[in-house]
Amino acid sequence: MPDKRFNKNILCIGAGYVGGPTMAMIAAKCPQYKITVADTNEEKIKAWQTENLPIYEPGLLEVVKKSRDRNLFFSTDIEENIKKADIIFVSVNTPTKMYGIGAGKTADLQFWEKIARDIVRIADSDKIIVEKSTLPVRTAEAMERIFNGMNKKIHFDVVSNPEFLAEGTAISDLENPDRILIGSRETESGRIAREKIVEIYANWIPRDKIITCDIWSSELSKLVANAFLAQRISSINSISALCEKTEADIAKVARAIGMDSRIGPKFLNASVGFGGSCFKKDILNLVYICEYYGLHEVAQYWENVVKINEYQEERFVQKMIHAMFNTIAHKRIALFGFAFKANTGDTRESPAIYITRKLAEERAHVVINDPESLRNAAQDLKDIREYVEFETDPYKASQEAHAIAIMTEWELYKTLDYKKIYKRMEKPAFLFDGRNILDHQEIYEIGFNVYPIGKPALTHF
Ligand code: NAD
Ligand code: UGA
Repeated sequence: MPDKRFNKNILCIGAGYVGGPTMAMIAAKCPQYKITVADTNEEKIKAWQTENLPIYEPGLLEVVKKSRDRNLFFSTDIEENIKKADIIFVSVNTPTKMYGIGAGKTADLQFWEKIARDIVRIADSDKIIVEKSTLPVRTAEAMERIFNGMNKKIHFDVVSNPEFLAEGTAISDLENPDRILIGSRETESGRIAREKIVEIYANWIPRDKIITCDIWSSELSKLVANAFLAQRISSINSISALCEKTEADIAKVARAIGMDSRIGPKFLNASVGFGGSCFKKDILNLVYICEYYGLHEVAQYWENVVKINEYQEERFVQKMIHAMFNTIAHKRIALFGFAFKANTGDTRESPAIYITRKLAEERAHVVINDPESLRNAAQDLKDIREYVEFETDPYKASQEAHAIAIMTEWELYKTLDYKKIYKRMEKPAFLFDGRNILDHQEIYEIGFNVYPIGKPALTHF
């Protein structure tokens, strides 16, 4: 029986970094809709109903609490909720396929297809299916064939509504997005479905920021947005390598080019490399599509964005080993930060994973500190536990260490007492700033040998 208190029944399948916060925001802004977030992971669903949410995201708990048990519900009963829903957002993970055709590049769509088949089997009324997950171009077409190919007397419309939020700023990104993109088929029923999704967002987002287009352009725009963002980081990181050779300063170069309004100042922070669950996956997806259509030069162009990122991570480790007299065996090395960026506990594809593994291969003893990601880090490194230690206090992590490497730009690391830290370290003490967040001259004057990214090293020998 439909619940008369609400004028729309929305289901989101997938209660992860996107599904949870996005639905919490819709629920907070639209009390007239009933929103249910469903997932097969029972532990996660339980956590969404407590004060300890399954993900760390600033401001998220407050938004969830506004609507939880009012018009926002979490459930593992996917079947029952599919039946009741008018609109179903699908926000499950779409990892890179690791087998068969397209292995290592294209998205593994088996989970998506399973959900599509489940929806068709269970549904007994018309539904709008919204692709929230990032999917390869033309997935919607394939899904529509599954939905409407079963000769049921009900109709399914598939709409693409990619998500552009970034972790750490998800709440403000959702509240005040640059744009909302909604793609559908240019048929009458496609346009009606698209308008129903526009209506949801129009509850709090100005109409001129809600853009609509055909479904393929929408799917492709999501991949291209991530590819362009990642490309900027690889571009600045490639120049950081040149700066280190020529004694130019990457921060000065970034400032000078960023003041050109055509280039703009954002996303020009040189770093140890980009991480996160999506950039690499989405670029490789784009590469695969280009290769599929025989556009090998285009594929290579984008693949190089990922290669430069790997090069940047590798360069960082090489720099550490070389600076520490070409041996780090049995040396204690403190990693400040493990999350792929600040203000998240997410460690997926974090450069810190690769760097820890390389340091462990050289038999270093790596002590990891991070305010939010130690649980994920322990999971990521469970096969090399003998070489790593997890420490919640950065002062203890760096005690008797030969080196500190800053992996994540947490505010916390900018405000530590580095004099105190220096005193307790082995000498000579090294500091590798993989995020360029410290005042390097000041740190050098304390006594550290300092190795920033894309700037000359400051050493006492
Ligand atoms: P996630 O791994 O955090 O969450 C996905 C959830 O889906 C998991 O909780 C998993 O248990 C659930 N799930 C998987 N298969 C299921 C099934 N058959 N039935 C029910 N639940 C199922 O992933 P995420 O980071 O939220 O990403 C989801 C999608 O959104 C991806 O395609 C990603 O590329 C895209 N995206 C992510 C971000 C981000 O910041 N993380 C931003 C924009 C877009
Ligand atoms: C990114 C995009 O910014 C979102 O728009 C997109 O929705 C999302 O991917 C996705 O599809 O998953 P996210 O990965 O959460 O968001 O975080 P970003 O802020 O983009 O940072 C990605 C990585 O690049 C981080 O490791 C970050 O430290 C690094 N980065 C970022 C730099 O090294 N330098 C910069 O100047 C900016």
